[in-house]
Amino acid sequence: MNRVVDEIQKAISGATDFTEAAQQAVERLRDRVAHYNWVGIYMVDGDELALLAWDGPEATEHTRIQIGQGICGLAAERGEMVIVDDVDRDPRYIACFPSTKSEIVVPIIADDRVIGEIDIDSDSPAAFENEDDRLLNEVARALADRFTQ
Ligand code: SME
Repeated sequence: MNRVVDEIQKAISGATDFTEAAQQAVERLRDRVAHYNWVGIYMVDGDELALLAWDGPEATEHTRIQIGQGICGLAAERGEMVIVDDVDRDPRYIACFPSTKSEIVVPIIADDRVIGEIDIDSDSPAAFENEDDRLLNEVARALADRFTQ
């Protein structure tokens, strides 16, 4: 995981702008971690989240999500990571892909404010553990630094 963190940090700092940094991050996360089936970065835009970058087998129709709605909106509202081990048993979950079994959302926080988040869907149930928490918080921090540069 440390190797993946290093690689993604380099890609983020080497990108020409924030959008490219976000795209680099989603592509590398999905490619390097087997249980990351769909990876997206949403950014806060007023009282909504707007999808900035994604990588996966198909596009989501949920390109804008109200803050407070779904797992994404919950994480943005709380400013805290949210993990759902079984999306079929969580009434807050907004379905995107029929194959998804579990989800993690990690806020991107700059200057004590939620500016966006990393959203990952896995086709495996309860796919996310402490290692994912650590990796994704490192990537979120690198993105926050790049955003405020
Ligand atoms: N499942 C998310 C919506 C976004 S899709 O996973 C890409 C949610 O419940 O907020």
